[in-house]
Amino acid sequence: MKFNKNLDIDEVVKSIKKNTFFSEQRVLSKEDLRDIHKELDLWNLNLNKNQINPTKTFNGWYHSMAMARSKKVYEILASDFILNTCEKYFKKSFRLKAHRVYSVTSGARMPWHSDDKSSDKKHDYEGLIFIFYLKDVSKGQFQIIKDSENFSKKFPDAKIEERIIDKNYKDQIIDFIMPEGSMVIYNDKAIHRAKPYFDPFWYRTSLFIQVDTNIDNGEKTIINPSFVKNIDQKKLDYFGFGKNSDLPHEPVISGYHTLDYKDLFKIIFNSVLSILILKPYYLLRRSFILKNIIKKLFR
Ligand SMILES: [Fe+2]
Repeated sequence: MKFNKNLDIDEVVKSIKKNTFFSEQRVLSKEDLRDIHKELDLWNLNLNKNQINPTKTFNGWYHSMAMARSKKVYEILASDFILNTCEKYFKKSFRLKAHRVYSVTSGARMPWHSDDKSSDKKHDYEGLIFIFYLKDVSKGQFQIIKDSENFSKKFPDAKIEERIIDKNYKDQIIDFIMPEGSMVIYNDKAIHRAKPYFDPFWYRTSLFIQVDTNIDNGEKTIINPSFVKNIDQKKLDYFGFGKNSDLPHEPVISGYHTLDYKDLFKIIFNSVLSILILKPYYLLRRSFILKNIIKKLFR
């Protein structure tokens, strides 16, 4: 996978260590973005279909197994850029912890938080987050508190109240209003959020990738083998081959109650259609077939 920009990995790592983050505009090309949108079929509810599907939560849609469905997402995850950046940054073994393509709907309020957590408990090992904007972002943008990776551990909880940030760190907030294809990389201990916004006709879509130095657990890596052109031990370790993969795919809270009314009505409509027409038709057809088989047996 070749990115749209030639990035110097030493500079990228230096920037994350010195400035909390690294960002660059239009790292993914228009064709890359078109491929991802096409391959993921955002955001169709395909209930009871044998396919890798997105999950709807109260605040948006999440494709937490996107690399099994989108070749381009797999190529980004397995890119030399991501692997070499991690290698230079961590200087020890690392592993892909999670990834997802997600769309957060208007009105959703993401609290200020750090990502150095597993199952809501803060951890000590090092981690990096890569975010790629899959749409132009002029509102609901990613925000980070500069230098916060150095002091976020004084907050015992990963989530931090807005009034604390407003009172103490307002001057350190950095906004990332950037075009589609842009990328931000940050230390997982840095405090950040997506700025709340209200626009029912627009939603933000991004690719989130989390890598850290706890190689003993992660979300399950589900790969479409046809996407894999070459794989070495470094990549196998990065994807967690042969290691525990017990962490649930995030977000974990979802069900019928997190679907919106449009999808619930779609389910009701399809259920009624199946009860009244489709199921009786197939039952009848099957009984004819059954009758023919019995007839043939006793002829
Ligand atoms: Fe986060």
